[in-house]
Amino acid sequence: MNKPPRVLFVCLGNICRSPLAHGVFRAQAARAGLMIEADSAGTGGWHAGDPPDRRAQAIAQAHGYDLSDLRARQVTRADFDRFDLILAMDRSNLRDLQSLRPEGARAELRLFLHPAQDDVPDPYYDGRFSHVLELLEQGVERLIAELQRA
Ligand code: 4NP
Repeated sequence: MNKPPRVLFVCLGNICRSPLAHGVFRAQAARAGLMIEADSAGTGGWHAGDPPDRRAQAIAQAHGYDLSDLRARQVTRADFDRFDLILAMDRSNLRDLQSLRPEGARAELRLFLHPAQDDVPDPYYDGRFSHVLELLEQGVERLIAELQRA
């Protein structure tokens, strides 16, 4: 039997977009009966150890997702060997991850909204969490369909 795919969601602070993506993905994968391992991280370490932003927790809870066990951490070079797929929320995150990526690392690295190649906009300052959650749910649906085909 194939090992469950290991997926890492990455944004800037790891308190808004990537923990939401993580929470949606694990819930939808469980619903689909798909075995996965998931985590999230930030390219920056300012919020390391913090729970998700309370606005992210609130929108998640309103849609039936629980983020209360998640804590922020900074992405590391070792993550490129620990995960099969690393998904960047926006192009800036993708560029930062490309610079960090060790030569010959195994993880596939790409934008989360694939193949659309759109950014998931940062809701930290503009508060558009509901729009972000909608994009994340659409992206996760696509991702699960892809993993089910693999
Ligand atoms: P995230 O949002 O990358 O979606 O977690 C942000 C959270 C915090 C900051 C920026 C973006 N910040 O600058 O502290």
